[in-house]
Amino acid sequence: MKLLLTVLKRIHKPAVYTRHQRRLSSRASSGLLPLQDEAVIVGSSPELVQRLCSQVAVRTVFITEEEEGALLQELEPGLKKKRYEFDHWDNAIHGYRETERARWGATCEEVLNRVRSVAFPQGSPLLGPVHILDLDKTGYIKPHIDSVKFCGSTIAGLSLLSDSIMRLVKEDDANEWLDLLLPRRSLYILRDQARFNFTHQILKDEESVFSGQRVPRLRRISVICRNLPG
Ligand code: OGA
Ligand code: MN
Repeated sequence: MKLLLTVLKRIHKPAVYTRHQRRLSSRASSGLLPLQDEAVIVGSSPELVQRLCSQVAVRTVFITEEEEGALLQELEPGLKKKRYEFDHWDNAIHGYRETERARWGATCEEVLNRVRSVAFPQGSPLLGPVHILDLDKTGYIKPHIDSVKFCGSTIAGLSLLSDSIMRLVKEDDANEWLDLLLPRRSLYILRDQARFNFTHQILKDEESVFSGQRVPRLRRISVICRNLPG
């Protein structure tokens, strides 16, 4: 494992910072040291970061603690009835349970409308139900590209309960990559090339290091909106 991590580290150098945003994550409220830098996107080269910057976004502090609480309150009862799945070695996702939800209470609906209005062009037909993915602390998402048959150009996700790192790697050239720091309560958006030509993954806790800084990965719930293929 040590060797693997060393190799990964080498592959993912040098990093270039971009998108300096104000970040107020659980780190601040828990008294932990803030990350040295407030960049939320780093990549293999300035050119790549520049090229993808219109197709990848991380909006920090996108929802309030109260809104996160409202989402959790609606989601937890249904999720708790399911068991985390660990045993499908060929699955893209390890250590997860999931559900879909079409109808929401007023607070959650308002949050989702905000997501829709920033992430999708007006009038773009969306996949009806919202996808909910609950990753156990030991869970992770392997590199994959979402089905082009079932979803369109844009994927937008809220991260609840934990900070995490999403890694994008160019499908035909592993030297081209971006790491996105997804603080708890942030929104990320992937569209077009970033969605079609790059795999995305959520790193497991042991590998969760952003730009040299450890980002503990706890249980994480994502609330994902997608549009329909055009
Ligand atoms: C997926 C996926 C990312 C996330 O379910 O296809 O990539 O934020 N999820 O959970
Ligand atoms: Mn995906």
